[in-house]
Amino acid sequence: MMGLAEFIAGIPKCELHVHIEGTLEPEMMFELAERNDLVLPYTDAAQLRATYNFHDLPSFLKAYYQGMEVLLTEQDFYDLAWAYLTRAHAQNVRYAEIFFDPQAHTSRGVCFGTVIRGLRRALVDAHRLLGLRAQLIMCFLRDLPAGFAMATLLESLPYKEWIVGVGLDSDERGNPPSAFAAVFERARAEGYFLTMHCDVDQENTTEHIRQCLDVVGVDRIDHGVNALDDPALHTEIARRGLGLTVCPISNRHVRGDLGHDSLRRMLDLGLRATVNSDDPAYFGGYVTENLLAVSEAAGLGEREVLRLEHNAFEIAWLPAGVRDTYLAELRAYGKDREVSSRAAHA
Ligand code: ADE
Ligand code: ZN
Repeated sequence: MMGLAEFIAGIPKCELHVHIEGTLEPEMMFELAERNDLVLPYTDAAQLRATYNFHDLPSFLKAYYQGMEVLLTEQDFYDLAWAYLTRAHAQNVRYAEIFFDPQAHTSRGVCFGTVIRGLRRALVDAHRLLGLRAQLIMCFLRDLPAGFAMATLLESLPYKEWIVGVGLDSDERGNPPSAFAAVFERARAEGYFLTMHCDVDQENTTEHIRQCLDVVGVDRIDHGVNALDDPALHTEIARRGLGLTVCPISNRHVRGDLGHDSLRRMLDLGLRATVNSDDPAYFGGYVTENLLAVSEAAGLGEREVLRLEHNAFEIAWLPAGVRDTYLAELRAYGKDREVSSRAAHA
C-alpha cells in the first residue's frame, strides 16, 4: 500500500515561492566560480555547506547575496534556472512561479537583460523539453531605496511579456510595504500581478500585512503566517480568497520550527495556504521535502496534501483553461488513490 511519502512524491505539484538565486547549490557555485575565474573562500562545496547555519533572516541573506556573486553571464543564469527546473520536474512540479532579484545583479554591474534572457531561455526549454511550465516574478529589494525599485520596474518594461508579476523581498526590518506603494501602483498599471513577502515573526509584521491588504492591494502574500495573530487580517484574507505561500523548512531556519501548527490552522480556517521551498539550496529542502516535513509534523493526511496543491493551482497566475487542466490532473491523482486504497482494503 502507498504511504504518505510516496503519495507526496507522486502528486502533481505547483510551486509558487522559490527564489531562483536561492536554488544555487554549493556545487554549482564552485563550477561557476571556476568558469568565471573567481576564487571562493572555501575549500569545497561541503565546507561551504557546513557554514549554512542561519538563525534569522539577515544571517541567511548575507550568505544568499554573497553566494550569487558567481552569477555573471547569461549562460550562468540559464544553468542556474535549468538546474532548478530539472530538479522540480523530477519532483513532479507541473508549474512554478519563480522569483528573481534583478537589483542584486544590476547593482554588481550585471545587465538586467543578461539576467532575464538567461532565465527566460531555461523556462522556454523546460516547457519544450520537460513539459514543465514556469513564469517569472520580479522581486524588488526592500532594503534598497524605492527609487531604485521604480527604476528597475521601468527597466523591466521591454521584457514585460516574460514577467507575470512583481514581489518584494530581502530584509523586512524597517522596510514596510507602504514605502513601495507607488512602485506597486505603477506595476499594477503595467499589468503585473502583485505579491509581497511578509516574513514570519518580523517586527511590525501584522501592520505590514495590513498595508499589503489596505495600501497596496496585493493579489497574494508570501509567507504571511502572522496573519493568524489578528482575526481582522485572516478574516479579510479569507474573504478576498488571497493565497499564502508558506515555506516550512525556511521557517525552521528563521524562527526555529516548521510552523506546522500555523499551517494546520490556516487550512482549518479555509485560507488558501500552499507549501513551497523558498531557498532550497540554503535551507536544504525542495518542495517534496517541505511537503513531507510539514505533513509529518502537523499530522496532515492525503486529503490535506491534495488541498494544499489544489490551493496552489487555484491561486497560480495562470489562464483559466491551463489551470483547469492542472486541477483535472490533480483530481485524477486523488481519485486513482481512492480507488487503489479501496481495492487494497477489499
Ligand atoms: N530573499 C530570498 N529569500 C528570501 C526570504 N525568505 N525572505 C526575504 N527575502 C528573501
Ligand atoms: Zn522568499
